[in-house]
Amino acid sequence: MITKQISAYGTDSPEANLKPLTIQRREVTPTDVEIDILYCGVCHSDLHFARNDWGMTQYPVVPGHEIVGKVTQIGTEVSKYKVGDIVAVGCLVDSCRSCNNCKNDLEQYCPEWVGTYGGFDKHLNTPTHGGYAETIVVDEAYVLRVPDNLDLAGIAPVLCAGITTWSPLRHWKVDKDSKVAIVGLGGLGHMAIKLAHALGAHVSLFSRSTNKIEDAKQLGADQVIISTDTAQMEQAMGQFDIIIDTVPYAHDLNPYINTLSTNGTLVVVGYLGPLDPMLVTVPMIMGRKAVAGSLIGGIAETQELLDFCGEHNITSDIEIINMQNINTAYERMLKSDVKYRFVIDMNSLKG
Ligand SMILES: NC(=O)c1ccc[n+]([C@@H]2O[C@H](COP(=O)([O-])OP(=O)(O)OC[C@H]3O[C@@H](n4cnc5c(N)ncnc54)[C@H](OP(=O)(O)O)[C@@H]3O)[C@@H](O)[C@H]2O)c1
Ligand SMILES: [Zn+2]
Ligand SMILES: [Zn+2]
Repeated sequence: MITKQISAYGTDSPEANLKPLTIQRREVTPTDVEIDILYCGVCHSDLHFARNDWGMTQYPVVPGHEIVGKVTQIGTEVSKYKVGDIVAVGCLVDSCRSCNNCKNDLEQYCPEWVGTYGGFDKHLNTPTHGGYAETIVVDEAYVLRVPDNLDLAGIAPVLCAGITTWSPLRHWKVDKDSKVAIVGLGGLGHMAIKLAHALGAHVSLFSRSTNKIEDAKQLGADQVIISTDTAQMEQAMGQFDIIIDTVPYAHDLNPYINTLSTNGTLVVVGYLGPLDPMLVTVPMIMGRKAVAGSLIGGIAETQELLDFCGEHNITSDIEIINMQNINTAYERMLKSDVKYRFVIDMNSLKG
């Protein structure tokens, strides 16, 4: 297969900083779209993956799955997009297209789904490389339309931070009568507040940080509960229909389960791995409460979210950085020192 060499940023070891790399992209096949990347959001998963936190990284890795760009080339059979269109790519770039999950617009749960990075490129027989790069080539079925009224840098985080919180909000049917709580005010957390608020729900934030209270209210939270304050946690007992937990590290879920109402569900999206401490089942049994997980969202649901953001004028609160500043951005993200998502201006890589 014919390939093109392009500039990217990535790393070839978990300890090393990200640095300039040259990678191969395939030439467009009949159903592919080539995209000149304008902006790419910085997700905490990028950092986990670059540093092999999940033990599954194959190096070199080029992270980035919150991609917004302009179509520069289309394959002979492409019908949805034309050269010059502004489009987006999120966390997945392919799947089997025939399993029950794929047939039900749940491509993220397809056993053969292909991640935008760290997946397996069936055309090149190599790991896929993400959006910290000049361009990307993606089958049109996994490319999304961007509403034309939104800031292009601000919409990038919708492709992961947005859809990861939107999917559980929709699955658990959040509406104006729902009481929703979000754990952690970072990239995912701030999108979750905006989206739950736009759905008309009563929104609370659990945060360790007292200095985020005003921001949370500006973003649409009705209430902030400081999770390290036992009295505040006790006051919140039995309140929430759904809690979306975005914290990236192992932490005690039991205090949050106590704040669920009867039939309530705590949806873990942030932490991947064994729980420590273990769950105590008593409040779950006594109140038919559930603990669930959720992974990003399917293509149709991501398009639904982009259109919803267009209608409601929702974008992410971002700090634009140059590609060369990615290592500092990672260190700041580890300290929760970002309001509330870094987005890379990809011109900085090209210039
Ligand atoms: N399930 C999925 O499909 C999916 C998709 C995307 C990302 N993720 C994962 O979701 C997690 C969050 O991603 P993000 O990009 O939103 O990260 P982020 O911007 O770093 O935000 C995480 C937030 O969690 C809280 N937090 C951080 N460390 C904590 C600790 N040790 N104890 C308690 N709270 C802590 C902080 O909020 P406060 O200061 O308010 O406490 C922080 O702002 C990551 O692990 C990422 O890999 C999962
Ligand atoms: Zn992500
Ligand atoms: Zn499938």
